[in-house]
Order: sequence, then C-alpha cells, then structure tokens
Amino acid sequence: MIPYKHEPFTDFSLEENQKLMQEGFNIVSEYLGEEYPLIINGERIMTDKKKDTYNPANTEEVVGKISQATQEHANQAMEAAKERFETWRKVAPEVRADVLFKAAAIIRDRKFEFTALLIKEAGKPWKEADADTAEAIDFLEYYGRQMLKIKDGEPVESRPGEYNQFDYIPLGVGFVVSPWNFALAIMAGTTAAAVVTGNTVLLKPSSLASAVSYKFVEVMEEAGLPAGVINYVPGSSRDIGDYIVEHKDTRFISFTGSRDVGVRIYEKAAIVQEGQVNLKRVIAEMGGKDTIVVDASADLELAAQAIVDSAFGFSGQKCSACSRVIALEDIHDELLEKVKEKTTKLTVGDPVNQSNMMGPVIDQASIDKIKEYIEIGKKEGKLEAGGTTDENKGHFVHPTVFSGLKHNDRLMQEEIFGPVVGFTTAKDFTQAIEYANDTDYGLTGAVITKNREHIEQAREDFMVGNLYFNRNCTGAIVGYQPFGGFKMSGTDSKAGGPDYLILHMQGRTSSEML
Ligand code: SER
Repeated sequence: MIPYKHEPFTDFSLEENQKLMQEGFNIVSEYLGEEYPLIINGERIMTDKKKDTYNPANTEEVVGKISQATQEHANQAMEAAKERFETWRKVAPEVRADVLFKAAAIIRDRKFEFTALLIKEAGKPWKEADADTAEAIDFLEYYGRQMLKIKDGEPVESRPGEYNQFDYIPLGVGFVVSPWNFALAIMAGTTAAAVVTGNTVLLKPSSLASAVSYKFVEVMEEAGLPAGVINYVPGSSRDIGDYIVEHKDTRFISFTGSRDVGVRIYEKAAIVQEGQVNLKRVIAEMGGKDTIVVDASADLELAAQAIVDSAFGFSGQKCSACSRVIALEDIHDELLEKVKEKTTKLTVGDPVNQSNMMGPVIDQASIDKIKEYIEIGKKEGKLEAGGTTDENKGHFVHPTVFSGLKHNDRLMQEEIFGPVVGFTTAKDFTQAIEYANDTDYGLTGAVITKNREHIEQAREDFMVGNLYFNRNCTGAIVGYQPFGGFKMSGTDSKAGGPDYLILHMQGRTSSEML
C-alpha cells in the first residue's frame, strides 16, 4: 500500500485549473435548486417538508431543497442501521477500508465539482473550498489506512496453556452531526471514521449545507457501501436531533458544531433511557477563541500575515480561526499597523469570482450576531479596520480589527465566528501566555517568536489542543496535525490522528484455555 500523503492543493494560478474549475461550476449549475430525498436503508424518501440551502453570496440562488426527516423517519433509520450493523460489523476491515479508498478516488476524480458546490453552498473562496475537498479525500485515505493498522488489535501475553487476544470491535449505531463550515471534509471524516470501524450511522448534516453531504453519501454508495450503513436524515435539532441523541439504541454521538449544542448533546447523552443497555459515548468538537501571541523577537511581517490569514480565511468561520492577538508592548503598534495594512487590501465579494479573497458569512443569524459584536467592540476597544457589512445580495462582512481591548473583554472571550480580531498587549511573555489561556476554550493557538525559551515555555504552558509556532493557527492537515481541543472546545478527540478511530470502538479481550 502506498503510504499516506496529504492531497496537494490546487494551483489556481494555472489556466488549466481555472478551466477545470469552470467545468466544475457548469456541472453544479445543472443541479442547482434540485430536490434531495432522505436515504434510509438505501431507499430514497422525498418528504413534503423541505428546507432550502442557498448561496450565502446571493441569497436568491437556491442550491438544494432538502427533505426533512421526522421522528418516524429517525426510527426507521435506527431500525435499518441496527439491522445492517449485524452484518457490517463482520465485514473484513480490508473491505471496509477499500470502500473509503474508492470513495477518495471518486471524489478526486470529481474534485472541481465538489469544490464548486462548496463555493456555492457554503460561500467558500476557491482556495478554501479546494482545501475542504482535499481534506475530505485525506480523511478517507488516512482512516482507511488507520483501520488496516489497528484491525488485529494489540499483542498481549499468553501464559502456557492459554491463548489471549486483545482487539477492537465496533460500538453499534452512531449519530453523526456535522457542521456547515467544513461541509464536506468534517462531514466525510466523521462519517468515514464511524463506518470504517464497523459501525452504522444516522447522518444529520448541517441544514445550511446539506446538498454536498447528499453527494457524498452517493459517492459512498458508488464505492460499494451497502445500504443502511449510512442513513441520511437531515432535519432540525428540535425535530429529530435531540430525539436521536436520546434514543435508547444510539451508541455514540459524533458531533462537530457550536459549544451550546455540544454541551446540550453531552448532557442529554448522559441520561440513561428506559431500555438502554449502553452508556453513550460522545465525541465532540466545539468552538474556539484562538489566540496568536507575538513576542518582541518575532518576524513582524510573518506575524501579521499569520494573523490576517488565520483571522480572515473563510471569513473567520473556523473553530480554529484567530480572534485574539496578544502582542508584547514593544512591538504592538508596529504589528497592528502591518495587520491593518494587509487587512485593507483584502477583497470581499462573491467567491465564484476567483479574485475575491473573502466571501460571505453563512446566514442572516450569523451576520446579525457579528454586527452585535462589532458594536460591543466599539465600546470595549477602538475600531481600526472594517466594522461594516454589505447585505444587498449576500451576507458580507468586511474584515474587522479592534485594538485597545483587555484580554478578558467580551470581544476577547466569546466566540464570534466571523471576520473579527481583537488586539491586546502583555508586559512580558509569561503574562501573554496567562492571557492566552484565560478563555473557556483550548482549541488552537500560535506563537510567533524567534526565542527558543519562549517556544519551550509555550509548549509547557499554552493549553491548546493544536499549538503552532511561526505560522497560522488554522489549516491542520489530516495525519500531520491531528486536530481537536481542550476545555470547552471539545473532548480532545483528535480528528485525523492515530487514536481517532479507536474512539469509535471498544477493546475486547478473549482468553482461551488450551
Ligand atoms: N481543521 C480546521 C483547521 O485546522 C478547522 O476545523 O483550520
């Protein structure tokens, strides 16, 4: 087997790739506005109740009309998943892994179509959408290989006259709840991890970007996945989400999304229902309030670029996005100037147009929330750049920088999930790390420094799941930088890491007397 390597990003400066991207848009335009059914046990079920997904850069453009599952559908899906589990769990791991490898090949072959769909449905700029598609391929390639690595369990000793084995077996039926911000990658990764380990799932994608997840389920079917392994059940938390979390037969929940929803799932999953015979496992990846610390030795050009890329890539709509900068006093003013200069050069507009570096935010609720925080920022600090929106056709927010904040101001504590970054100062490096740690979250962080002692100090004391030096705090690569956070950022389940699959399995010992 060829060793795992991450999928290279597309060079869009090449004309041939620009042409391929255009072809991708052409394919997507043929199915824009189509109706999508549920998929339960392989059967397509079109429901009366539908929810539209639309292009956040042009809110009149409907991307998909998505059937919405009821509790009855959830029950059907649960029965199908339970029944299929009894055969799928016995399918050889090599065969299950092979489905992932084939799915990766199919997506690679249709890469520009998937990227175009992400641009339309999630409002991602080309580069960000391409990275999302590449990451989906990576998860499939990486988890397939990981399954082959762990399939025989771990060796254990046997005394004379006995034969001992220790291996991992699947859990049962999982509930995968995926987000809109990596509508392909995280949805595909969390689903693939669950099924390659021999589980079956109910998949509830985000209602803001569901068409791309339907396309993914089709790919898995084409790759040979039997009916009933993935049951596609879009719907709201209120209608079906809570219901499935609380269902007695749900064995585990794999959730990526907001802190509020994650905490609610965690609480609900802890309550043992009548007839339930397992304690549910929750894998949760939630929010972030991610900090870049810049010390006096830093290359300020590099620091400014890392801040701008991490804060404004995909309009700050990543749990890994930088929303706090802690600069040592000596270099604060110069760094701020550089960040402002770079920020004002960013072009904002419809991401279908390659030249736009920033697209829209996802929906009205999001832009409303960001505007509220901009007002809070004006009271707590000083507006240095941006602070304005353009809501004529889509949900555009201009990249926004505040200075003069205290590290514990609301703008520096609460997740905004938009293109807003705040600056504060610290008198020395120890104080900077203290301030960096002083949030409820612990997902990503970066330190920009040339000082070896500071690097080692941060390694010991900066409490984030993904710590980066002299680079962005976004853009973890599957198999290279396993991704997941501490504290209220989640269960530190490291997506794209060597221990991720085990979270979907249980260790089983067998001991035979000879
Ligand atoms: N994995 C993404 C990143 O590192 C966020 O989900 O930016």
